[in-house]
Amino acid sequence: MISKPETLDKPMPLICVVGGAGYIGSHMVMLLRSLQYRVVVIDDLSNGFQSSLADAYLEKGSILDSVFLERFFSEHAVDAIIHFASSIQVGESVKNPQKYYKNNLVGTLNLLEHALAHGVEKIIFSSTAAVFGNPQYVPIDEAHPHEPLSPYGKSKLFVEQILADYELAYGLRSVCLRYFNAAGASACGKLGERHDPETHLIPLLLQQASGRLEKFSVFGDDYSTPDGTCIRDYIHVEDLCTAHLLALKYLDTGNASDLFNLGTGKGHSVTEVIKTVEEVTGNKLNICVSPKRPGDPAILVADGQRAKSILGWQPKYVDLKDIIRHAWSWEQKYPWQ
Ligand SMILES: NC(=O)c1ccc[n+]([C@@H]2O[C@H](COP(=O)([O-])OP(=O)(O)OC[C@H]3O[C@@H](n4cnc5c(N)ncnc54)[C@H](O)[C@@H]3O)[C@@H](O)[C@H]2O)c1
Repeated sequence: MISKPETLDKPMPLICVVGGAGYIGSHMVMLLRSLQYRVVVIDDLSNGFQSSLADAYLEKGSILDSVFLERFFSEHAVDAIIHFASSIQVGESVKNPQKYYKNNLVGTLNLLEHALAHGVEKIIFSSTAAVFGNPQYVPIDEAHPHEPLSPYGKSKLFVEQILADYELAYGLRSVCLRYFNAAGASACGKLGERHDPETHLIPLLLQQASGRLEKFSVFGDDYSTPDGTCIRDYIHVEDLCTAHLLALKYLDTGNASDLFNLGTGKGHSVTEVIKTVEEVTGNKLNICVSPKRPGDPAILVADGQRAKSILGWQPKYVDLKDIIRHAWSWEQKYPWQ
């Protein structure tokens, strides 16, 4: 009898998406499911939505809960983790560092402890441009010094360093992806940004365009940039997810841990984003100017070259209009179910 090749019987890997009910995580779950990966989501729904998961399997619980994690990993033979769960507001982290060190740092240590005890060998971690602090040069590459200004940025940098130590000591391989400004919504219109409270520029401008927000405040118009407003690198949420998929494949092929900056390399000022929102929505926005926020660098733009050459990543939506068009379709569906 001729036996079947082993690969035919091999099930697709089981990917545990931690924080999978959130903005970026839910887009990742949709991408993995569309590629037939088996997916199990951990989320405590503190800032996520079960309705963003369609039919993906959710284990509702917190990474701060060791009993939950122990049960979870004994019941699910996870092949790899993609870890999005975190508290995410820079300003709040300055006022309440305890919350950020607990959730982002202690929570991640818990997750790693139980994952390691159950033989998980690969993890993709959501890091951030906030690990760099005030840029000493732009575009920011991976070699740029790390001087995070907030407990949020520090909590992410600590996890990056912990992951490096865990590879040496325990063989846990990781890819840390430092996103610049995640933006946009799924091109199919099923998912989008849904934070409460919302603090990100594009969704707030779109809320103003749709009449949900009375007025939008620009924080500072006297930065040393051509039009005086801050410049940021907006990266489409679906392009971020593609980078995670490539990072997963990178670890699957046996590569050692690594870190990558994810951005388009193109900066847009707040004024430019406002104009593009007006163009896409056809509405004139109600804008006022408020004082600068402490710790907001004038320019944050990524050098994404390393992710392109090593992971083979190529962002698809490099035109800001596409990002805003998708986010606008999503905003127009409000209230989301
Ligand atoms: N949105 C951005 O522009 C951006 C930029 C850089 C980095 N990041 C990072 O990307 C990740 C995802 O960001 P997002 O915008 O999708 O955030 P989000 O708040 O929409 O998603 C985070 C998810 O994690 C869940 N969560 C939080 N604490 C948890 C816990 N203790 N246990 C279980 N689940 C928990 C929340 O319920 C939520 O569903 C975060 O780690 C964030 O720091 C985001």
